[in-house]
Amino acid sequence: MTVLTEAGDLVLLVGEDRKSFIRPLQPGDKLQTHRGEVLYDDLIGLPYGSEIRTHLGHRMFMLAPTTSDLILDLRRQSQIMFPKDLGYAMIKMGIQPGHVVAEAGTGSGGLTLALATLVGADGHVFSYDRRADMQKLARANLRKAGLEARATFKLRDIADGLDETDLDAMFLDVTEPWEYLAPARAALAGGGCLGILVPTINQVQTLVDALYDSRAWFMIEVEETFLRGYKTVPQRIRPEDRMIAHTGYLIFARAVTRLPEAEAETEELEAEDAGAASVESSEQQQR
Ligand SMILES: C[S@@+](CC[C@H](N)C(=O)[O-])C[C@H]1O[C@@H](n2cnc3c(N)ncnc32)[C@H](O)[C@@H]1O
Repeated sequence: MTVLTEAGDLVLLVGEDRKSFIRPLQPGDKLQTHRGEVLYDDLIGLPYGSEIRTHLGHRMFMLAPTTSDLILDLRRQSQIMFPKDLGYAMIKMGIQPGHVVAEAGTGSGGLTLALATLVGADGHVFSYDRRADMQKLARANLRKAGLEARATFKLRDIADGLDETDLDAMFLDVTEPWEYLAPARAALAGGGCLGILVPTINQVQTLVDALYDSRAWFMIEVEETFLRGYKTVPQRIRPEDRMIAHTGYLIFARAVTRLPEAEAETEELEAEDAGAASVESSEQQQR
């Protein structure tokens, strides 16, 4: 289907050198690049995919930006979650239209943008951060993408809890996520998905211990994604020489409520296991 651009549409303008610009088509305004200028009035009403020329004759193409394009183009004041982790996490957590979800912290709004796209007009994102400057930036980033109405920003330390309950999913991208497992569980519906990103294995260790200790989580998983780009020179298609080797570890868990007797059983089993382990270790020491 051919879609024509309209005044105000957000477009991706990419030169042959792959330098790209995401801009709204504001009537009367123009894009200035090192390869010349483009008047937006000349672009309004053209089909997406059109080849255009700067006033110096350089070729560009006009495309609709994807979620990945929008995220990589964000103004940043914090480390953002990158598409390779975001894409997997969103699928893993089953984020879909109509879902009501929360995240902390907002940061520059990378995850907020992905969540707001996926929950659609009927869903909503509640985004918590304790820094006002971060939320100001994230709000501006969401506004530019036309998604501001789908997110509510709350300036708060999540140690003080969330206002929402029965959420479909919650994501923690904070330094010490293990400190906020209780507020996250209180905000999630039974079975709701918790996702967490941490950059170091030390944090993973503390977090996994805390998840098991709290007994409010099931299907605890730790995963990592790797993405390798390829050079697309025809006849010489091969991996890029460099890759981003590490972004962070993804941790997922489902919110559950255990039966009191099941909890007692688990405690008994764990006590038995601990007893067996200590017998085994004293036997080993004696050998
Ligand atoms: C790495 S950034 C989040 C990046 C974001 N996920 C993105 O994709 O743009 C971490 C944010 O968490 C916020 N933060 C850390 N601890 C917090 C807490 N206890 N309550 C609320 N926000 C917190 C910080 O202020 C910071 O803005």
